[in-house]
Amino acid sequence: MSKLINSRLMMMAIAAAVAIVSCTPKESEPLLWLPVGEPTVEAEIIVDPELDLHEDGFMIKDTQLGRQIIAKTDVGAMYGRYALQRMERTGQADGPLDVREEPSYDRRILNHWDNLDNTVERGYAGWSIWHWGEPVPVELIRQYSQLNASIGINGSVLNNVNAAPEMLRRDYLERAAEIADIMRPYGIHVYLSVNFSSPAVLGGLETSDPLNEEVRRWWDEKVTEIYSLIPDFGGFLVKANSEGRPGPQDFGRTHADGANMLADVLAPHGGIVMWRAFVYSPKSADRANQAVEEFEPLDGQFRDNVLIQIKNGPVDFQPREPFSPLFGRMSKTALMPEFQITQEYLGFSNHLVYLVPLFKECLDSDTYCDGKGSTVGAITTGSVYPETYKTTAIAGVANIGRDKNWCGHEFAQSSWYGFGRMAWDVNLSSEDIALEWLQQTFTSDTDFTEPVLDMMMSSREAAVDYMMPLGFHHIFAWDHHYGPEPWCDIEGARADWLPKYYHKADSVGVGFDRTREGSCNVDQYHEPIASIYNSIETCPEDLLLWFHHVPWTRIMTSGRTLWDEICFRYDRGVKTARSYLSVWDDVKPYVDSERWEAVRAKLEIQERDARWWRDACLQYFGEFSGIPVPNEIEQPERPLDELMKIKLDLKHHN
Ligand code: GCU
Repeated sequence: MSKLINSRLMMMAIAAAVAIVSCTPKESEPLLWLPVGEPTVEAEIIVDPELDLHEDGFMIKDTQLGRQIIAKTDVGAMYGRYALQRMERTGQADGPLDVREEPSYDRRILNHWDNLDNTVERGYAGWSIWHWGEPVPVELIRQYSQLNASIGINGSVLNNVNAAPEMLRRDYLERAAEIADIMRPYGIHVYLSVNFSSPAVLGGLETSDPLNEEVRRWWDEKVTEIYSLIPDFGGFLVKANSEGRPGPQDFGRTHADGANMLADVLAPHGGIVMWRAFVYSPKSADRANQAVEEFEPLDGQFRDNVLIQIKNGPVDFQPREPFSPLFGRMSKTALMPEFQITQEYLGFSNHLVYLVPLFKECLDSDTYCDGKGSTVGAITTGSVYPETYKTTAIAGVANIGRDKNWCGHEFAQSSWYGFGRMAWDVNLSSEDIALEWLQQTFTSDTDFTEPVLDMMMSSREAAVDYMMPLGFHHIFAWDHHYGPEPWCDIEGARADWLPKYYHKADSVGVGFDRTREGSCNVDQYHEPIASIYNSIETCPEDLLLWFHHVPWTRIMTSGRTLWDEICFRYDRGVKTARSYLSVWDDVKPYVDSERWEAVRAKLEIQERDARWWRDACLQYFGEFSGIPVPNEIEQPERPLDELMKIKLDLKHHN
């Protein structure tokens, strides 16, 4: 009886913890990592359109005439002012300065998954900051623009990739134009996600076939209307023929047919199409294979104002995935990476997980598509196939909402900040980015920054350890993805939406065989990666269960068996999450009580969730391995049958 009550209480506690707090305009002072207001720096601003510099670039120089910020455009000068302000605040502005910066990517874009009813898909920080259908929150959007401009973000896709056709209705376009007007002085361009069946659903046409002349005309007129309202409109983001969304394949056409039709009507206005490669069909032998199977044959067929937007991994923003092999498979098509800043698969806004190490792991991965050094970053910044890239871009799914701290967790701000800084300069280290964020957000006192930086830098590995170590993936609870459910089975559900499809545990072992004996996913990678992944001897252990079905008794590099290593990793994750509580207790004197308490409360949830993951996964997989949890680690606390009853009433939006 008491167990039942405890489990009910726990469910209520979790539900309360993930409930979304809303909804006031931002009153924070200072403004997250920024002081309130425009940057005030002591420097002369020189804008020279003739300069041989990227239009967003800048130089900061100490000359005999004093300190100067020199740029080609006003926007470039603004980036220079923000950079100097950051340098001043992080103690790096002592002269003499001789700085020259140009962005790694031309387009540094946030994808907001905001719906027109103000919910945010996979949003854990309150309602949409666009306040659709309500008065325009001018000051809020100005603050948003300042924050983004300060880290170099220059594009916002306002609405969900699961786009409502109504987004293109006149009244919504007028609202988008008002938002664009507020953002423009900060160099931010508005983009929109579009629904491929808009011509039929919104325009009343009989079809949305991209090769139909009336359909093309409808889009042409719509695009002209958009540019009459938003002259510097950036373009469209499209999720087509994916997870039930309409697309060109509904009419027997290809992704290239669909993307090119839109690209052609956008081109005269300077707009682009970001066409997502997130596709998979229930019939595919391996979901991880599908993007390459569908897109590689189309290489060379896309217009040069189309970019294929590819998630960092081949499945779906998991705590750890290998890089998507598609990055190495298209040399004649511009590609752009998509990361998820919002923590759909990383504990929502309850867990402290600094994501830049995850993002950089992908960008730094070598695809070998054009020999050594063809990293995902090098490809997508255009340096491997320069002739293919008329423009370069990178996208992050935003974690922003109306919560007072903008992201639901104080530390979730660091992943937004870090995404922008990394998009500006892919060579910045995760650690440097985290440190400058801490210094501007809290204090530069090293008694604070050193332990808290360590906490941030270990946090992604900790989450991998306590959720899905060693290449486990997609063993989340059904639909909402908060918490473990490796046992999940829903009658009639698509196989590739169920954890068992991914972990394939049996009495022999666990893991997805993607080798040449299995789904052959390894051969979507170039050599030497393909063979490295293919062999159980050389496959990195962090990805072992992604690529191999591994016997429980296999001896790992630690000398432990696979089963013991799994137990050890979950245990290590719990211990690391627990250690964050004492790190945070020790730095209490350096943080105001409101933020300290808020973070403390979340760290408690994180530690409790880590135990929940460990208890669930070790007991569930233990039923297959038949081997007990080693004595030397903390034993599971709550029985499996109790954990299997947990059903959280959460939606896939807030
Ligand atoms: C994930 C996520 C969805 C989202 C989709 C996408 O599957 O759970 O909510 O729509 O990714 O990226 O399109």
